Amino acid sequence: MKTTEIRIIVHEYQNIDELTENDQYLLHEARRITEFAYAPYSGFHVGAAILLGNGMIVKGNNQENSAYPSGLCAERVALFYANANYPDSEVKTIAISAAKNGILVNDPIKPCGGCRQTLSEAEVRFGSPIRIILDGQDSILVLHGVESLLPLSFSKKDLASPLAATGR
Ligand code: THU
Repeated sequence: MKTTEIRIIVHEYQNIDELTENDQYLLHEARRITEFAYAPYSGFHVGAAILLGNGMIVKGNNQENSAYPSGLCAERVALFYANANYPDSEVKTIAISAAKNGILVNDPIKPCGGCRQTLSEAEVRFGSPIRIILDGQDSILVLHGVESLLPLSFSKKDLASPLAATGR
């Protein structure tokens, strides 16, 4: 048996003022867009702001539905909008914020599994690492690359299995 340790590096900041000006701006955009979330069922308002390679910032927030699975997380709303409208532009940075009753959550928000997989696809698609900023009152976390959120991920390279050649 061989045991391998997978290390992830998380940069932790106590205050938004410690971030670069560009990151501060992006995070403020994520905070602002939480206010337009449609979350009547959970009351949990999430916002995501994405900086693209072309310099544009696109935003999304969670959109819920009375048939619960039909809703979508803020991260995927923003990512799918970015890919739908700017398919040639890579995702550079995504800032994610969340509020309950209009107040920023204490613990930094962490994307769900489905959003991690979608972030991974965006990274593989453009071959460029995505920086991730996770907002909270207690701390702000910054990760460099989706692997820090989703190690041992499934991606298109796994689809190239030997069975694919036989058509089974
Ligand atoms: N949600 C997000 O939008 N992003 C996350 O990272 C976690 C959860 C949404 C989904 C749902 O509308 C609400 O938050 C409660 O789970």
